[in-house]
Amino acid sequence: MVPFFRLGVLGCVFALSHSLPNSNQFPLAGPSRVDWIKQHLATKSPYDVGAIDMLKDPDNACQIVQIHSVIRHGTRWPTVKDTIDINNLVLHLSTSKSERLYWLKEWENPFTLKKAGYLHTVGQEELYQLGQRTRHRYKQLLSTIDLATDELQFASDDQSRTARSGSAFHLGFLEQYGNLTSAHIAPVAWSTYAKSQDTYIQMKRHCPRWQVEVADNPNTTLQAELWIENQLTPISARLSAEFNIDLNANHLDAIYSACAFETSFYHSESNWCQLLEAEDILALEYADDLKQYYTYGYGNEINQWVATDLMTLLLRSISSPYPPTMSFSFGHSQTVLFMLAFLGLNQDNFTLGADTHMEQIRDRKFRTSRLSSFAANIGFELWDCNGDRYIRTLVSESEVTLPGCGRSFCPFQLFNDMISRKIERNYSTICQL
Ligand SMILES: *[C@@H]1O[C@H](CO)[C@@H](O)[C@H](O)[C@H]1NC(C)=O
Ligand SMILES: *[C@@H]1O[C@H](CO)[C@@H](O)[C@H](O)[C@H]1NC(C)=O
Ligand SMILES: *[C@@H]1O[C@H](CO)[C@@H](O)[C@H](O)[C@H]1NC(C)=O
Ligand SMILES: *[C@@H]1O[C@H](CO)[C@@H](O)[C@H](O)[C@H]1NC(C)=O
Repeated sequence: MVPFFRLGVLGCVFALSHSLPNSNQFPLAGPSRVDWIKQHLATKSPYDVGAIDMLKDPDNACQIVQIHSVIRHGTRWPTVKDTIDINNLVLHLSTSKSERLYWLKEWENPFTLKKAGYLHTVGQEELYQLGQRTRHRYKQLLSTIDLATDELQFASDDQSRTARSGSAFHLGFLEQYGNLTSAHIAPVAWSTYAKSQDTYIQMKRHCPRWQVEVADNPNTTLQAELWIENQLTPISARLSAEFNIDLNANHLDAIYSACAFETSFYHSESNWCQLLEAEDILALEYADDLKQYYTYGYGNEINQWVATDLMTLLLRSISSPYPPTMSFSFGHSQTVLFMLAFLGLNQDNFTLGADTHMEQIRDRKFRTSRLSSFAANIGFELWDCNGDRYIRTLVSESEVTLPGCGRSFCPFQLFNDMISRKIERNYSTICQL
């Protein structure tokens, strides 16, 4: 029980820090400094429970009738590339005699290739807790479901961390609800999208046009590279001088990774983070955002279409004569970011680039620390109000207003028209070269 209690306490701290007037202001010390760092780790940020808004449900005339949610896996171990980069960094830094690195001699490297990419226990907890909150929120609707049928559906791709995230969510969602074991768990049916056909979760995989226009296009990383050259090189030069050792921007990025993973795993500030100033972290965060923006976001036109098959599936489920009452799908950062781009959410009215005005960078809506943290999720609730149907969209459990809807409760007909118009150009047509 201890870890969950700890998470509960952190929830309160998060809530406090979130109410700071400007989340870019840097707390000088103490636990709030750790919380500030956690909110600026880009796609390696842990899930921010404190950022969830209290949902205001409509009056008694309305009833929720369906919920469909797409959820990124929780906090994971570093990928193979990040693990190797961190290991190389450690070897390199061990030749420095700087006093600021004294701790490195004692440091036990937790990152191993054996664990690379797998879900961390912190990620299990994130999903388990999300499952519990989801059960609590939709208690009434859940009680109408016959668990012997397919009214409740789970799906993931065929990777370990997504399936295991779904499994952790399932435990939080249904323990004390069924009749199996002393945990009174109820089992669920599960669909797995095989790599060879997955256009829903890892949707870039079968999109040749995306491959050519985005993945193989040198322009995709151009702005990030310019930013790294202009903004990160001076930081690595500063650290090089301090440690009397030659450090480049890749080393800096590895420091940021080690800082991100240790902070998420241990809920306390890592020695790695202490090598960085607040401005350094903001600059590193933006470098990652630029990569994500051009790879999965508004930086390339095709990115707004890649989630077409997933949105087609969702809309078909919602409108089918025998719709699933609830569905939960588990995916990756790309799954969530392509969906946001498809829906037009968090789009800035300027293009993000290396020479974007500092104030625009500071106030940007496209911020992956929030949008695509570990366990980030997008939910669609279908409501019935005296026969009129509405869709409410949630991003990481807080309601949002879809462009074109004007308010968070979007008349279903309007939502249906907007999405139908977009999915008409189907995935195979869009992705054709
Ligand atoms: C659990 O078992 C009880 C009776 O033993 C039954 O009434 C109930 O429907 C079962 N619940 C589920 C979810 O199967
Ligand atoms: C890269 O961008 C430049 C400038 O906008 C453009 O002229 C060029 O065609 C682009 N290259 C590719 C491969 O899209
Ligand atoms: C962009 O949006 C901001 C507020 O979100 C507004 O102040 C600004 O005028 C807009 N700029 C353009 C070019 O539309
Ligand atoms: C996609 O659209 C094309 C052209 O309209 C059509 O030929 C094809 O059958 C469609 N594919 C799917 C899967 O609906």
